[in-house]
Amino acid sequence: MIVTTAQLFKLAYGRYAIGAYNINNLEQTVGLFKGNLASKAPFIIQISKGARKYSDKRFLEGMIRAAEEVFPEAVFAVHLDHGDEETCYDCIKSGFYSSVMIDASHYEFEQNVAITQRVVDAAHAKGISVEAELGQLGGVEEDVVGSVKLTDPDQAVEFVKRTTCDSLAVAIGTSHGAFKFKAEPGKKLGLHFEVVEKIKAKLPGFPMVLHGSSSVPKSEVDRINAAGGKIKDSSGVPEEDLAKAGKMGVCKVNIDTDGRLVWTRVHREFFRDKPDKFDLRDVGVIFMEEYAKMIAGKNQMLGSAGHLDEVRAALSKK
Ligand code: G3H
Ligand code: 13P
Ligand code: ZN
Repeated sequence: MIVTTAQLFKLAYGRYAIGAYNINNLEQTVGLFKGNLASKAPFIIQISKGARKYSDKRFLEGMIRAAEEVFPEAVFAVHLDHGDEETCYDCIKSGFYSSVMIDASHYEFEQNVAITQRVVDAAHAKGISVEAELGQLGGVEEDVVGSVKLTDPDQAVEFVKRTTCDSLAVAIGTSHGAFKFKAEPGKKLGLHFEVVEKIKAKLPGFPMVLHGSSSVPKSEVDRINAAGGKIKDSSGVPEEDLAKAGKMGVCKVNIDTDGRLVWTRVHREFFRDKPDKFDLRDVGVIFMEEYAKMIAGKNQMLGSAGHLDEVRAALSKK
């Protein structure tokens, strides 16, 4: 059952966070649905601009519609991840997406406000909600490092009021990919939860979103490297931090890199151990199982696991 992102946020706020997982192909899609059902979690399936280009946006849409039929118990929203203005309008027009993200955080404040306002107007006219971003992601020690900028809570209040966006991606020290924190002797790594706390106090009930939330497990990277990979100095967000975020008004936690690591580990190990094999389905089946396991584990950490029946009951009544 496809529901709106806003409906999921309302039920989750302050209790748990919903996993938002990127898909690019069939195996990820099937593994994603299986993992969420195994852990009984509502979820958000998200599509990036890159994913829409990789195959064709119509394949992704078709796969999601098929998955909805194959897994009728699943409850999920469909979201555009990191959209520019043009892609947002395309998704809004399509009528398929529950929500879009306009990522104008790299522009200065006034321009971010203006772009976000335009997208919000178009989206709200069609009943679609909008995630915007304020601040810039990256590994940080201070408030600003290079192009990295933590979200300013007072600016967040002004931004939300002026744009009337429905959720806000906040920069609290995470970054995309497998290399989130540079370890430096004597320096404490970690996320700036005080920013989340301040925003929650100033905007009570307003959903926040955390990007760059993969944990980049060392065990996974070690297995990849033992099977021929060369991933050095990787680091991610400790899973306990995700659990904490979910209780603080972060309603959506974006995870993509951890899924890519599962894909890489499964394929590297498979072809290392079975050099005579060449049927893509042999390895595809293993990937889908392992991906589903990873998703189920994430949902346990996020606190969304076990909430599926309750969410379905609440949303079926409407
Ligand atoms: O934050 C970006 C997501 O990980 C999607 O990545 O743009 O390479 O599809 P992508
Ligand atoms: P990761 O790279 O940490 O998985 O973050 C994904 C993300 O933020 C997608 O928007
Ligand atoms: Zn992101």
